[in-house]
Amino acid sequence: MLFDEVITGRRSARRFRSADVSDELVDGLLRLAVNAPSSMNGQPWEFVVVRDRSKLAELAAIKDRYCPPSKKNFPATMFETAPLAIVICVDESSSNERGLENAIFVTSYLMLAAYERGLSTVYLSAQYHRDPGLCQDIRQLFRIPDHISPVSILPLGYPDETPPEKIVRPPRVIREEYNLERSK
Ligand SMILES: Cc1cc2nc3c(=O)[nH]c(=O)nc-3n(C[C@H](O)[C@H](O)[C@H](O)COP(=O)(O)O)c2cc1C
Repeated sequence: MLFDEVITGRRSARRFRSADVSDELVDGLLRLAVNAPSSMNGQPWEFVVVRDRSKLAELAAIKDRYCPPSKKNFPATMFETAPLAIVICVDESSSNERGLENAIFVTSYLMLAAYERGLSTVYLSAQYHRDPGLCQDIRQLFRIPDHISPVSILPLGYPDETPPEKIVRPPRVIREEYNLERSK
C-alpha cells in the first residue's frame, strides 16, 4: 500500500471481527512503531498488550466511568469485540518531560502500521486532565508502576464496520504571520 493511501485510508473502528490477531503480528507492529521520534531519542515506550476479556471489560468500565458529559452518548463498546487492546505507556525517567508527545507519536505510528496490515484501531485517552482518576484506575488494573505513565489505549482487530464518510477540511495555512486586520 502506498504511504499516501495509508494516511488517507486509516479510519477508526469501534466494532471488530472475532478473527484473532497473533502475538507475532502485534510484535511486528510494535517493532515498526518504535521507529517513531522521541525527545532526545529516549524511546521511553512500554506496551501493555491485553487479551483477557475480563480486563478488557474492566477497561471499558473505567473509560465509561470517566467519560466527560459531552461524550456520554459514545460508550466504550469497542472493548466488547476487540480481540485485544494495547495500553501505550512511557517511562517518565527517559521521557525528558515529554511523555505525552513521545507516547502520542508512537501511538500514531502504531495506528498507521495496523491499517497497512488490514487491521483497525481507535485512539482512546488513558489520561484526562480534569480527573487523574482515569489514569490511576488504569494503573491499578494493570499494576503499572509509578514511574510509568499510561497515555493512550488502542483496541486492535479486524474491523467489522464501514466507517461513515469523513469530510477532511483543507489545511488552514497562515503565510508568515497572522494578519488580524484582514480576518476582521
Ligand atoms: C485525543 C483523541 C481522543 C479520542 N477519544 C475517543 C473516545 O473516547 N471514544 C471514541 O470512540 N473515539 C475517540 N477518538 C477517535 C476519534 O473520534 C476519531 O479519530 C475521529 O472521529 C476521526 O475519525 P477517524 O479516526 O476515523 O479519522 C479519539 C481520538 C483522539 C485523537
